[in-house]
Amino acid sequence: MPEQVSPFWSFRLVHYHHGHHAGNFADVFKHVALYGLLAALNRKDRPWCYLETHAGAGLYDLNSPGAVRTGEWRDGIGRFCDSGTLVQGQRSEKVPALLVDFLEGVAAMNPGGALSRYPGSPEVARSLARSDDRLVLCEKVAAVAGDLRQQFAGDRRVIVHVRDGYEAHSLLPPAERRGLVLVDPPFERADEFEAVADFLRRALARFAGGVYAVWYPLKNRHAAARFERRAAVLATRSPLCLTLDTGAVGAGQLRVCALLILNAPFGFAQAFDPVGHWLARTLAQGPRAAYTVRHVSTAVPDRAQAPSSP
Ligand SMILES: C[S@@+](CC[C@H](N)C(=O)[O-])C[C@H]1O[C@@H](n2cnc3c(N)ncnc32)[C@H](O)[C@@H]1O
Repeated sequence: MPEQVSPFWSFRLVHYHHGHHAGNFADVFKHVALYGLLAALNRKDRPWCYLETHAGAGLYDLNSPGAVRTGEWRDGIGRFCDSGTLVQGQRSEKVPALLVDFLEGVAAMNPGGALSRYPGSPEVARSLARSDDRLVLCEKVAAVAGDLRQQFAGDRRVIVHVRDGYEAHSLLPPAERRGLVLVDPPFERADEFEAVADFLRRALARFAGGVYAVWYPLKNRHAAARFERRAAVLATRSPLCLTLDTGAVGAGQLRVCALLILNAPFGFAQAFDPVGHWLARTLAQGPRAAYTVRHVSTAVPDRAQAPSSP
C-alpha cells in the first residue's frame, strides 16, 4: 500500500518498501484473490505461467523495523490470528475453504505458531504451482530482486528478471498459452494508472486469452474509474472489479482497494463471493466495511452518477 501520493514523488530519495505494508488488509485481499484465481486455473491439468510485473521480495519479516513501525499487518493478517482462524489449522465449516487453504499456507511458513513471516504474491503463486507450471517474476529494484532470487533459488520453475515490469509484455505470450498476469505497482508515480493501461494494451495484443489481475488503491475515484473504463475497452469480456472497503474513518489512510480482473476464470466471481464478504467482516475497521463485486462497463457515467472520493 503506498503512502500518500506526493506531487513531488519524483524527488523522493526513498523508494517504496513493500515490507512496511506486507500483510496489511490490502495485501491479504489481493493474495487471497490471487490464490482463488490460480486455484481456478488448477482445475485443468494443462500447465500455466504466472507473470508478475511488480513482484517485490517474495517473503516478508513482520518483525522488521518498518513492519513494526507501521504495524499495518496487525489489521490485516494479524486479524486472523486474533480470531484464532490462522495458526490452529482447524477447518471450520463457517470459514470458506479457499480462505482456510490460504491461511494454512501462511501458517506453514510460521511453524512456531507465532506470526512472524508473511508471503509475497510470488510465494502465494508458488504455493499453488504444480511441477510443470512456471513463475516469471519482474522486479525493478536490484536489492529487492536479489532477495527474490535468494528466496526462489534452486526452484527450476521460477525465473527472476531485474527489469521494468511495464516492459514485460515482451515476455508474452507464454509457451503454455495459458496463465495469469499480476500487475501490482506501488502507485508512487503520478502516471501509474496510465502506465498500467498501456501495459495492458500491449500485453493483451500479444496474449488476449490470459487472465489479468491489477491491484489499485481507491483514493482518487475519478482516476480509478477512467482506468477501469480504459481496461474495459481493451478487454473482450467486461472485466470484474472486486473492492474491499475496511470502513476506516481516519483521514489520509488507505481505506478501499480494488482488483480489476480481465478474463476471470468461469465461475470465479460467484465462488469468491463468500470469501470476499468474510474478508470484509474480519478486516473491518468501521461499520461501513464492505466487499463488492461488479462488471465494469465501458460507458462514461453522467455527472450525477460519477463516483465520489472516499
Ligand atoms: C506493491 S509492491 C509488490 C508487492 C508484491 N506484488 C506482493 O504482493 O507481494 C511493488 C514492487 O514493485 C517494485 N517496482 C516499482 N516500480 C517497478 C517497475 N517499474 N517495474 C518492476 N518493479 C517495480 C517495487 O520495488 C516493489 O517491490
